[in-house]
Amino acid sequence: MSGPHILILGAPGAGKGTQSANIVDEFGVEHVTTGDALRSNKEMDISDMDFEYDTPGEYMDAGELVPDAVVNAIVEEALSSADGYVLDGYPRNLEQAEELADMTDLDVVLYLEVAREELLDRLTGRRVCSECGTNYHVKYNQPEEEGVCDECGGELVQRDDDTREAAENRLEVFEENTLPVVDYYRDHDGFVAVDGEQAPDAVWSDVKAAIESSEE
Ligand code: AP5
Repeated sequence: MSGPHILILGAPGAGKGTQSANIVDEFGVEHVTTGDALRSNKEMDISDMDFEYDTPGEYMDAGELVPDAVVNAIVEEALSSADGYVLDGYPRNLEQAEELADMTDLDVVLYLEVAREELLDRLTGRRVCSECGTNYHVKYNQPEEEGVCDECGGELVQRDDDTREAAENRLEVFEENTLPVVDYYRDHDGFVAVDGEQAPDAVWSDVKAAIESSEE
């Protein structure tokens, strides 16, 4: 039997990456994340596509969405080879949601709900391992040694788009473009809204229960 098809929605900083890591460990699915895929291709030359900027990185650092044509191709390729997945960071607008409907079906749609002030606090306080990508937070999830990754000893850094200005812009882009996507999925079979303001373990327990009940 193939693994579940899971979509995880939520604002920047809602905990999608944190919970996706748990889902991968527990259910053995692949983590398909447009944010990480684009960060690995920040310098990709898209100048021949006639967009405002010449690389994905310029959109990301400003907190803007990367053009649909670039992102749709990344997701289609990743999903075609995945036997079960958790999709994180896509779709971010209604056009992408319609593209996704043509690519695959979904068993569970999780929506992590978190208020704006908490999101800003989480984003500006996040630190990420420059080697393995593990997430930390200066208050809520500290490493044993400041600035050093517990997993691999790598240096912890702040993402370029986690400055206050870029984070505020990302939240505005979310409200304008991605909240309509949440509404688009509300009537979808398997849609579950989870209180993302709880402690990470409590969020995980709700997420796990939602996935398990979709498998019954
Ligand atoms: P992306 O990387 O997808 O960023 P995002 O959606 O903004 O999400 P984040 O990774 O910032 O947050 P998260 O929800 O994963 O939270 P996390 O678990 O890390 O996208 C980046 C950019 O790429 C976009 O701005 C855009 O330019 C481009 N892009 C990506 N996809 C695109 C698409 N489809 N179309 C166009 N452009 C696209 O948690 C955050 C922090 O909070 C961490 O420090 C964590 O430790 C802490 N935390 C987590 N859970 C809790 C909790 N329960 N309590 C307390 N702290 C917590």
